[in-house]
Amino acid sequence: MKDEKARLAVLVSGGGTNLQALIDAQNSGVIHSGSIRIVISNRADAFALKRADAAGIKTAVVDKKQLGGVEAFESAIKAILIENKIDYIVLAGFMCILSESFTRSYPERIINVHPSLIPSFCGKGFYGLRVHEAALEYGVKVTGATVHFVNEIPDGGRIIAQKAVYIENGDTPEALQQRVMREAEWIILPQAVESVCAEFIESGVK
Ligand code: GAR
Repeated sequence: MKDEKARLAVLVSGGGTNLQALIDAQNSGVIHSGSIRIVISNRADAFALKRADAAGIKTAVVDKKQLGGVEAFESAIKAILIENKIDYIVLAGFMCILSESFTRSYPERIINVHPSLIPSFCGKGFYGLRVHEAALEYGVKVTGATVHFVNEIPDGGRIIAQKAVYIENGDTPEALQQRVMREAEWIILPQAVESVCAEFIESGVK
């Protein structure tokens, strides 16, 4: 029988709160045009893997060091994607930059969430807490989150959704990170994933 939903792989590296937002959105029906088929982590100790287990979602660990380098690492990811007939890849706190050859294989099929308003505080070296440190150091009054397609330029692909978050007096990078997640990332990532999957299903490509 034909799949009526887009098949999703979520790539993670850490705590997995964005993965949790996707799982919750799937359970509540916010995401109804896509379904998470596998969670892939580059770290065996990522708490995100426990979240996937708790939700009954299949997991895989792909260790770059163990595999001996980027090429083998990305080939292993590709093999898992093919085996699971994945339509879209969602990077949810995935802390590895994918090579140009990898991203070119999946044009507008990889979705990333970034914790700033691109084009501010993005690109190589800007990930996790570092993004919020940079925003506070610069002294911006507004930051936020961006969901975008991934291409060969780090954080450079077409923007799908953005949401602004105000800086508050006395913000620390940690406090700001939490607020950006709560007020922006956990909302716009599931919405963006649903809108991309809905368009995909409607287009009849599947
Ligand atoms: C999130 O803030 C995500 O936007 C960021 O790392 C955090 C992961 O948290 N990603 C990047 O900085 C990628 N450039 P999570 O594991 O709890 O979802």
